[in-house]
Amino acid sequence: MTTTNSALQSVIWSSDHIELLDQRLLPEEIVYIPLTTPEDAWEAIRHLKVRGAPAIGITAAYGVVLGSRESNTSVDAWLSDVNKHAEYLATSRPTAVNLFWALDRMKAAADKLAASGDSLEACKEKLLQEAISIQSEDEETNRLIGEHALELFKDGMGVLTHCNAGGLATSKYGTALAPFYLAQEQGMSLRVFADETRPVLQGARLTAFELQQAGVDVTLICDNMAGMVMSKGWIDAVIVGTDRVAANGDVANKIGTYSVAVLAKAHGIPFYVACPMSTIDLNTPTGSDIPIEERPAEEITEGLGKRTAPQGVKVFNPAFDVTPNEYVTAIITEKGIIKPPYNVNLKKLFETL
Ligand code: MRU
Repeated sequence: MTTTNSALQSVIWSSDHIELLDQRLLPEEIVYIPLTTPEDAWEAIRHLKVRGAPAIGITAAYGVVLGSRESNTSVDAWLSDVNKHAEYLATSRPTAVNLFWALDRMKAAADKLAASGDSLEACKEKLLQEAISIQSEDEETNRLIGEHALELFKDGMGVLTHCNAGGLATSKYGTALAPFYLAQEQGMSLRVFADETRPVLQGARLTAFELQQAGVDVTLICDNMAGMVMSKGWIDAVIVGTDRVAANGDVANKIGTYSVAVLAKAHGIPFYVACPMSTIDLNTPTGSDIPIEERPAEEITEGLGKRTAPQGVKVFNPAFDVTPNEYVTAIITEKGIIKPPYNVNLKKLFETL
């Protein structure tokens, strides 16, 4: 299905399948593709048709539904199918913990349903409702993140962001981009600078696109211009999303985030990280324990639609980097703003749930 409309939702459950916005084609083409099997969902996640930590988790949750609905013999066989499809979908990408969080939540829900004495059909329907809840709760979570983040910004500020942690990466609003949408709703003006985000250009193709569509003041810059715009005094704060926060507050996010954090510190600019609680992984002690995905060399050598490097050249293409906690001024979640020491305060946050 091809549309020309601007109200874009990246993942849509459509009665018995997923309608997925193919983010690889943005901003030039707005195309929704049907996903009908867990293999379709796996492939869409691996090849970045859907990307961004929360959106990956939502797609995987629906992917489990797509696979297990074929199970027609018994509740026990259905439960074992749910687990099998969840294990499979967990191999699609390694870094964003929201993927594993969503799959664990689906498995836990299925366990409970299987023990409830419900019929097979009721179990299937209720598992679909769990996936729908994961998606709808994400919207409310992001709105709260946006409200908390907005406390840190003042009218007229310049704010730099990296990659895309917006509506396209989530069910709505985004995490790092949520305050920009809420600011606009409240008549407050922020000047956003979006790094283009080499090599896959999520900043140029997605962040610049969705903010521009919404009428937010956005200026696109190449990644290597961030230091220059900071030195000009145009940036009052940096805000980014994250794929995983370790227990000590180290943060994995799109490659290039670490450089931005170092630049921010050098210029005395606060560096904020926005994420749902589901991105905080207390089981991962430090950033060096976070698995960092490496992606195909062609993203660098042919990413712009034509070859831009010599054939056979050695390439290193990590999709993410880790920003050490000492560069992170605050982590903004739906529960509020968390300040250092993160090893203490992140743990406390979960204790108060
Ligand atoms: O490779 P991507 O595009 O999935 O990377 C996305 C990011 O790094 C985002 O900043 C992160 O997932 C947070 S999205 C709210």
